[in-house]
Amino acid sequence: METFKKHHLIPIFLIILASSIIFSSTLACNAIDKEALLEFKRGIESESSGQLKTWDPNTDCCTSWNNVKCDNKTGRVVNLSPFRPSNPMDVDISVFVTGTISPFLCNLTSLQHLDLGHFQQFYLENPGQLSQLTYLSLAQNILTGSIPTSIANLHRLKTLNLSYNKLSGTIPTSLFHSMKSLENLYLQQNNKFTGSIPSSIVNLLSLVYLRLDNNSISGEIPTIIGNLKNLKIIGLSSNELTGKIPNSLGELSQLSSLNLDHNKLTGSIPANVLNLMNLEVFDVSMNQLSGKIPPHKLNFPASSFSGNPGLCDAPLPPCNNS
Ligand SMILES: *[C@@H]1O[C@H](CO)[C@@H](O)[C@H](O)[C@H]1NC(C)=O
Ligand SMILES: *[C@@H]1O[C@H](CO)[C@@H](O)[C@H](O)[C@H]1NC(C)=O
Ligand SMILES: *[C@@H]1O[C@H](CO)[C@@H](O)[C@H](O)[C@H]1NC(C)=O
Ligand SMILES: *[C@@H]1O[C@H](CO)[C@@H](O)[C@H](O)[C@H]1NC(C)=O
Repeated sequence: METFKKHHLIPIFLIILASSIIFSSTLACNAIDKEALLEFKRGIESESSGQLKTWDPNTDCCTSWNNVKCDNKTGRVVNLSPFRPSNPMDVDISVFVTGTISPFLCNLTSLQHLDLGHFQQFYLENPGQLSQLTYLSLAQNILTGSIPTSIANLHRLKTLNLSYNKLSGTIPTSLFHSMKSLENLYLQQNNKFTGSIPSSIVNLLSLVYLRLDNNSISGEIPTIIGNLKNLKIIGLSSNELTGKIPNSLGELSQLSSLNLDHNKLTGSIPANVLNLMNLEVFDVSMNQLSGKIPPHKLNFPASSFSGNPGLCDAPLPPCNNS
């Protein structure tokens, strides 16, 4: 009787074993994604965050690898910030990374969030293949050249962060034609973008943050910007913008911060802009503006207006023409 019972238990044990293998493999990292991440790791020569040490080929990339997040139902990688330090308090500490970005990265076709900040060079062969991306950051690298036009294929993008680089060239018009969901556009600092702000920006109806400061952008601020009703932050400081401050900016009722300092703007300050209800930060210093500063309820400091020889009245000295 004893042996009979034992023989009966073996098949049950095998069934449990088999089903547990099937069960766990459906939850585990997708094989294509795992290979793509290992190829990506292979392209990295050195990186100071140490996070990639946890990327062991013998473990599950969804549960055991740092800075990789999967969709629990499909096992596909959805979130990748490979070099983010594990302590959130350390995110501002520079992480140095050298190497190249493997083209295998583009096999992560379910990726929604990709943060490749602190990388040394631009080598995303076909970023347009990552069509599920909603967040793409390549900030704080030393990327050169112009924005690859295939980025325009990322229709779902809500955040595009290319700030703190050495990018140049004009902002491709096609970028604004296709990225209808874009909320945060960060192209500021160290980028040397030239040309004007494309009027196709009118397509970005969800835009909240527009940061183009410290580039070499010229031409006028498109009047049509007044149609982008969700704008809260406009940063256009330190460029070569000319023409007047558009009256249409006064239609942006959500606007809380407007930085137009260090440009070549002329004409007077529109009263409706200065009196926007939610405006907290306003800076038009170092331009060629003229005329009387319109009365305004918020007392912006003199430094918000300084460096415009033709501008007068509070908080600057009174106008002295009779
Ligand atoms: C996926 O599973 C992890 C670990 O079990 C859990 O922390 C996370 O909240 C889950 N995510 C979703 C979207 O269900
Ligand atoms: C992954 O990407 C590489 C390089 O782009 C390619 O050669 C390979 O066929 C892809 N693999 C799969 C399974 O898609
Ligand atoms: C963009 O990158 C810069 C520089 O790393 C960072 O300060 C900023 O918070 C980023 N913004 C977003 C929305 O990711
Ligand atoms: C603008 O960028 C240059 C480098 O291109 C840098 O030296 C300068 O400090 C930046 N200016 C501001 C105001 O951040």
